[in-house]
Amino acid sequence: MKLTIIGTGYVGLVTGTCFAEVGHHVICVDKDAAKVKLLKAGGMPIYEPGLEELVKKNVRAGRLRFTTSTKDGVEKSDIIFIAVPTPPQDDGSVDLSFIETVAREIAGSMTRYKIIVDKSTVPVKTGDKVAETIKRYCKSKVEFDVVSNPEFLREGFAVGDFIKPDRVVIGMHSKRPEQAMRDVYAPFEAPIICTDINSAELIKHAANSFLALKISYINAVSVICEASGANVIEVANGMGMDARIGRRFLDAGLGFGGSCFPKDLSAFIKISEQLGYEFSLLKEVQKINTGQMERFIKKISDTLWVLKDKKLGVLGLAFKQNTDDVRLSPAIELCQQLQKMGAQLRVHDPRAMEKARPFLPHATFVKDMDAVAEGCDALVVATEWPEFKKLDLERARKGLTHPIMFDGRNLFDPEEMERLGFIYKSIGR
Ligand code: UGA
Repeated sequence: MKLTIIGTGYVGLVTGTCFAEVGHHVICVDKDAAKVKLLKAGGMPIYEPGLEELVKKNVRAGRLRFTTSTKDGVEKSDIIFIAVPTPPQDDGSVDLSFIETVAREIAGSMTRYKIIVDKSTVPVKTGDKVAETIKRYCKSKVEFDVVSNPEFLREGFAVGDFIKPDRVVIGMHSKRPEQAMRDVYAPFEAPIICTDINSAELIKHAANSFLALKISYINAVSVICEASGANVIEVANGMGMDARIGRRFLDAGLGFGGSCFPKDLSAFIKISEQLGYEFSLLKEVQKINTGQMERFIKKISDTLWVLKDKKLGVLGLAFKQNTDDVRLSPAIELCQQLQKMGAQLRVHDPRAMEKARPFLPHATFVKDMDAVAEGCDALVVATEWPEFKKLDLERARKGLTHPIMFDGRNLFDPEEMERLGFIYKSIGR
């Protein structure tokens, strides 16, 4: 099938590449000429495991190409996916101006029936606005259908998530686009759920908010674990064995970050408010998330007392493992707060150092994770990179002026750390 993806960020690039991988002919459009040039030259604007190989393979096979021209993309394809950013605004609502602009551009280039699919995360009822806009700006009055097809990719696992999704959600107001949409996803053998557009849009916000709620729930439980001498990992394991609850997304830590959960929670709270409901449960989820960071910083300052001129080694800058993304990263937030309190930082991340540099101009970036602790008063773990479990603990202990570790992601075993001579403080144990 001939598909166009407008927006070549995390979502658009993964979507376009995976569609090409299963045999569709895909045009990826982006306004950013430098990014298109880079992709055409075989470069990658983001790090996502497995993606680079797939992009190269499908470009070589002639199934994937990049352009800055929306007109070209709209004319040559039957189905147009919108995958542009929907950034947060100061009041928590979503800035939909990129979606609106793209809708107008699509309308201006349509000369025959098209299916316009929204993949970006948007508040409920956005699909209706997109349809109104296209109708208004399409001069030749051609027929079209708008579809909502939210994405559920996790950064760091996006290719796998796309190829083997738990479900594909397709929201439509008419039957006409259904078969074509089913055909697009047929090679993936994923369960498909067809709904109306509003329900599809809500599935995305409700799912992300529920996952954030699950994390805040276990983080709140971790506070009770610390106060009572219980172990949050054992509690999570025991809870998770109940199939109705499930173990995933029950890892206590520094809280959730990234470009999705914080933004989607705020947006869901805001749209609920506009629809006449105060979603106070989700406000509490945000509050618990902020509190988790505050408690961790207090744990550090209670132990080290004055932070001014203390040297801290920090492992992890990305908002989670397997990505170079530092947008709303709890690790960056932690570093910035520690610096405000006067601490000097030696930091390391397996992938995110370049993207983190502008946010931490005064930190020392250390290439070798085993060298981070050298000369520091304590070592802090801020991101759940599996690599950190292989840290040379003996070298770290010897390098530290005091063998203190604050583990914000519960990567190590407290008994083992004590045996190795560390004063080890983690979350909820
Ligand atoms: C999230 C969702 O998981 C995806 O399904 C969704 O498609 C995506 O948002 C999106 O809306 O685009 P992502 O933001 O890539 O994906 O990352 P997650 O793996 O969900 O992690 C989010 C944050 O929660 C990270 O900061 C992570 O460290 C934290 N987390 C996750 C925990 O603190 N504990 C957990 O148990 C799990």
